[in-house]
Amino acid sequence: MFRSLRTDNPELVRVSVNGHAVEIASGQSVWSALALSGQTTTRKAALSGEDRSAYCAMGVCFECMVEIDGIPNQQACLRRVADGMTIATQTITETSVAK
Ligand code: FES
Repeated sequence: MFRSLRTDNPELVRVSVNGHAVEIASGQSVWSALALSGQTTTRKAALSGEDRSAYCAMGVCFECMVEIDGIPNQQACLRRVADGMTIATQTITETSVAK
């Protein structure tokens, strides 16, 4: 399980992660919100449909794609949380697009 290492008293924002309300320090990454909420699956693999999650955490691998405010293909490791943001595991796969 992940936990924040911050010891200061940061301003908190409230986001929704797969329908669950999460309070997180302003300025943290979307990936942090996912990890701190215990939901580390970011997307389903395009072909196999298997769970994927952040790998590089620096914008290179594109394993961390999520839906943010209804817009797919957002990199969770690069986007910063904002109050009221809605984050969802991305379920778009090659087979779901073909339907
Ligand atoms: S974790 Fe690699 S691009 Fe986000």
